[in-house]
Amino acid sequence: MLRFILVLFMGTCVKSIYTINVTNQRYRLNYHIMPPAGWSNDPNGLSYFNGQYHAFFQYCPDNPNGCSTSWGHSISNDLVHWHYAQPTIAISPNQPYDRDGCWSGSAVVNDGQLTLIYAGNVQNPFNQTINIATSTDGVNFTKYSGNPVIAIPPFDGTTGFKDPKVWRSNGTWYVVISNPTQQPNFPRAVLYKSDDLKQWTYLGSLAAEVDDSENLGSMWDDPNFFYLNGKFILLTSAEGVLRDGNRFANLFQVGYFIGDFDYQTNFFNRSDFYELDLGYDFFAAQVFEDPKGRMILMAWMYTMGSPLPEQADGWAGALTLPRQLILSEDGTRVKMVPIEELKSLRGNQYVNSPIFINGQFDPKIPCDSTEVIMNISLLQAPGKRIGMRFGYMQLYYDRQYKKLVLARNKDIRQVDLGNITQVNLRVFFDKSSVEVFANDGAATMTSRFYSDPAPGLILFAESSNEMPGTANVNLQAFHLNSIYGNN
Ligand SMILES: *[C@@H]1O[C@H](CO)[C@@H](O)[C@H](O)[C@H]1NC(C)=O
Ligand SMILES: *[C@@H]1O[C@H](CO)[C@@H](O)[C@H](O)[C@H]1NC(C)=O
Ligand SMILES: *[C@@H]1O[C@H](CO)[C@@H](O)[C@H](O)[C@H]1NC(C)=O
Ligand SMILES: *[C@@H]1O[C@H](CO)[C@@H](O)[C@H](O)[C@H]1NC(C)=O
Ligand SMILES: *[C@@H]1O[C@H](CO)[C@@H](O)[C@H](O)[C@H]1NC(C)=O
Ligand SMILES: *[C@@H]1O[C@H](CO)[C@@H](O)[C@H](O)[C@H]1NC(C)=O
Ligand SMILES: *[C@@H]1O[C@H](CO)[C@@H](O)[C@H](O)[C@H]1NC(C)=O
Repeated sequence: MLRFILVLFMGTCVKSIYTINVTNQRYRLNYHIMPPAGWSNDPNGLSYFNGQYHAFFQYCPDNPNGCSTSWGHSISNDLVHWHYAQPTIAISPNQPYDRDGCWSGSAVVNDGQLTLIYAGNVQNPFNQTINIATSTDGVNFTKYSGNPVIAIPPFDGTTGFKDPKVWRSNGTWYVVISNPTQQPNFPRAVLYKSDDLKQWTYLGSLAAEVDDSENLGSMWDDPNFFYLNGKFILLTSAEGVLRDGNRFANLFQVGYFIGDFDYQTNFFNRSDFYELDLGYDFFAAQVFEDPKGRMILMAWMYTMGSPLPEQADGWAGALTLPRQLILSEDGTRVKMVPIEELKSLRGNQYVNSPIFINGQFDPKIPCDSTEVIMNISLLQAPGKRIGMRFGYMQLYYDRQYKKLVLARNKDIRQVDLGNITQVNLRVFFDKSSVEVFANDGAATMTSRFYSDPAPGLILFAESSNEMPGTANVNLQAFHLNSIYGNN
């Protein structure tokens, strides 16, 4: 998780639990994981244990502005409908080694126990360590008496030592941890192995920036390392990558390196850094492998520097929908699609028909808890821009620049879709979020958006000098049911 959230808000933290309530429902999400009240940030410990899915999140139950975080806990039987675990706090800062925060980490099932691996954060003197907590029932966690399990970072690293992500390969546990090098100060992900999650052996650097000109930021938060259909992926939330034209337009970005990895030598043959989601609000992504062998990702719908208007209502932060990661056919990129199970949320169908847009069309669909599928054949949409408007935001294909654009203000987000004849959009609107999946996951764009009451959807087609603003599209839309309280 992010260093300076804690620094920023530490002073305002209150000790007691559940002292605040949500005071206004206007932005509460219908089908995304969010805290009951208070602050939340990174997804943590995504896992499957005893027949149920677990999603933890960085959590401050009593302060929507942040604090020394605990792990909040939600549980699901189907990866779609979630309820808060009882107790909702899995672990909280109460030990010398984690007194200023049980920071982000992961969870694995070991010896019949759900084991959390997390960074203990101490501010003064600054000290981050790796710790574990276990549970036999999946809700009541006990911190290991031998914590920290990794007490000091590698000799050449800074004191920034956090976001442990564990997986198992060939009977051995591995963990990847964020730990920048000291001199020079480059972002880095380091690798350890273990037989029991308690005794760890340092294996060295998995990947690091080697030259400032690489523009890979200062810190790689929340590293995830996994195998996807023949390739290895190092996914990370980078702090401080500089904007490069349309790329890296947010303050911080989630991206990945792709390559081959050799467990004998621990050598990862990494590619360049590619952004994963081109929207305004996407950070701290974490993956886990589900029982079907799918790689599932959730992230925090936030970008550093964005306002969170729901703080005024006593809560903050939410996770994205679960998405399945898929390797592109040429094996060079990672795509994201909403997990299949999300179709179970579909309720009333608003529309399922071809639509002729002449300038503008109002399908009479509210953008509040809605899935919209709009397929555009570019042969039948000759204008300059074809897309949809919802309140102060727009999503459109720009024919001249061959780009899909999400616009929330003048500083637009855009992604090159290449030489295509078809733009297939699948858009999930919740009460204060929008998630766009284009061309079966070739591009995704995630953003919060705040509008009370919810805006209606408007389809549009803009003319160019030579071409009319008309379009034939296929439109399908559903109301999506709430995931809370039905499970
Ligand atoms: C929050 O709601 C609970 C249950 O309605 C109530 O007992 C409690 O007093 C409320 N807390 C505040 C700070 O309003
Ligand atoms: C950090 O704390 C651990 C024990 O929790 C200790 O072993 C280690 O030496 C400390 N590191 C520093 C730099 O003080
Ligand atoms: C939680 O686990 C601890 C340690 O195993 C045990 O002492 C305690 O009774 C458990 N609490 C609940 C509510 O199950
Ligand atoms: C799995 O581990 C065994 C024992 O350490 C080793 O002999 C074998 O080569 C490993 N297999 C792979 C695929 O790494
Ligand atoms: C690393 O990847 C590049 C490009 O994918 C390939 O040409 C090269 O042979 C690879 N090297 C190793 C050691 O795997
Ligand atoms: C797209 O088409 C143009 C013009 O035919 C061509 O120059 C370009 O290489 C194509 N790009 C891709 C990615 O195929
Ligand atoms: C839109 O395209 C997708 C393929 O991306 C297809 O599965 C779906 O049936 C199409 N829907 C409509 C309404 O045309």
